Amino acid sequence: MTTDLAAFAKEKGVKYFMISFTDLFGGQRAKLVPARAIADMQEDGAGFAGFATWLDLTPAHPDMLAVPDPEAVIQLPWNKEIAWVPGNCVMEGEDVAQAPRNVLRRLIKEAADEGLHVKTGIEAEFFLLTPEGEEISDPFDTAEKPCYDQQAMMRRLDVIREISDYMLELGWGAYQNDHEDANGQWEMNWDFDDALATADKHSFFKFMAKSVAEKHGFRATFMPKPVEGLTGNGCHAHISVWDAPGKDASVNVFAGEKGEGDIAELGLSEQGGHFLGGIMKHASALAAITNPTVNSYKRINAPRTMSGATWAPNTVTWTGNNRTHMVRVPGPGRFELRLPDGAVNPYLLQAVIIAAGLSGIRTKADPGPRHDIDMYAEGHTITDAPKLPLNMLDALRFYDQDEELKSMMGEEFSNAYMKMKQQEWNSFVNHFSRWEKDNTLDI
Ligand SMILES: Nc1ncnc2c1ncn2[C@@H]1O[C@H](COP(=O)(O)OP(=O)(O)O)[C@@H](O)[C@H]1O
Ligand SMILES: [Mg+2]
Repeated sequence: MTTDLAAFAKEKGVKYFMISFTDLFGGQRAKLVPARAIADMQEDGAGFAGFATWLDLTPAHPDMLAVPDPEAVIQLPWNKEIAWVPGNCVMEGEDVAQAPRNVLRRLIKEAADEGLHVKTGIEAEFFLLTPEGEEISDPFDTAEKPCYDQQAMMRRLDVIREISDYMLELGWGAYQNDHEDANGQWEMNWDFDDALATADKHSFFKFMAKSVAEKHGFRATFMPKPVEGLTGNGCHAHISVWDAPGKDASVNVFAGEKGEGDIAELGLSEQGGHFLGGIMKHASALAAITNPTVNSYKRINAPRTMSGATWAPNTVTWTGNNRTHMVRVPGPGRFELRLPDGAVNPYLLQAVIIAAGLSGIRTKADPGPRHDIDMYAEGHTITDAPKLPLNMLDALRFYDQDEELKSMMGEEFSNAYMKMKQQEWNSFVNHFSRWEKDNTLDI
């Protein structure tokens, strides 16, 4: 693995590094640093005025430094003279506690101290739109059920193939690409990895998809519901826990002997059941992180889409291999959380999964009964499961009331996040909309 970025630059012909960090809203920020200066920056970090980003810092705070994590460096496959490297935010020698990559690193360590090593795979769906973001980029992509549309795939092969080639080159274990359930929507899959590696890849994937789309004259968006009436962009997370990190992992702690009972029948271990119990227990609060924008709530709890199903949950329920619930157990030894959407912050997604799961294991949480029904058709028959938050404010309030999750995510983080997100909500409600006039003018 790489440790010396200056040597990496020399060996690979890299002329510049993009030292990058992710703020609370999931925005990726970077400085472009010439290779001649990277040795010093690797030591000291690149300087940023924290107030200029969404990290709840003031103009009076000292400079924030993003110290590159050399293990995570990636040479841009589409521009080999540039390398991207995620940084850890530091101020006056201390980690900035609320910075998302630091929140995740702290939780990974906490879990590791208890012998738990979380591995995840994500499915980051996106749309290809015209550059202004107004229309689906392919005017012929109009089918009522466009999922897996072969001809539409041919019309966007240049973009999808290019991104897939790059993932293959990077050794991510890319294994399939498809046209998804909405017109103009795509999904590209690669192998699961340790939570931090998945978060870095997720960030880089968004950067790569947007960059390649722009090169071809399109705009890639991960917005949860970019087109009214069509299926939204999910970011499902598949989760398992192992005995060791990286290549040392040999035992999947979530895999259990098939036995009797809701959990064991599906090949999940007792610990897997408790981890799932933690996710179920904190689900409503979790949504403040996994569904972080006003627009997120147009995807969950949504009316039927043109294709016939939203593929998004509306209630806190779990099941076996059935995609109509919040959690699906597709096979032994792992489960899929279908709640997160494309706006989720890659680092906070992993962090909140670990926080909720770890709390479930510590408290031996019970995930409640398995519901083997079609939630879209028969959901009304379940009366004892909580509904997911109806809007962003609802989710923020659930988060604020969940003292356990808040403290697992860290007090500084939770305070900063709540403050920034409350401001965002206020800005939304102060926005005067056409809907109000249409529905109130003649009252
Ligand atoms: N044991 C596991 N732990 C975590 N992630 C896993 C595990 N097994 C598979 N995955 C990951 O789950 C994701 C599955 O995505 P995909 O193939 O699109 O499934 P789906 O059928 O849900 O659409 C991939 O990223 C895959 O690597
Ligand atoms: Mg998939």
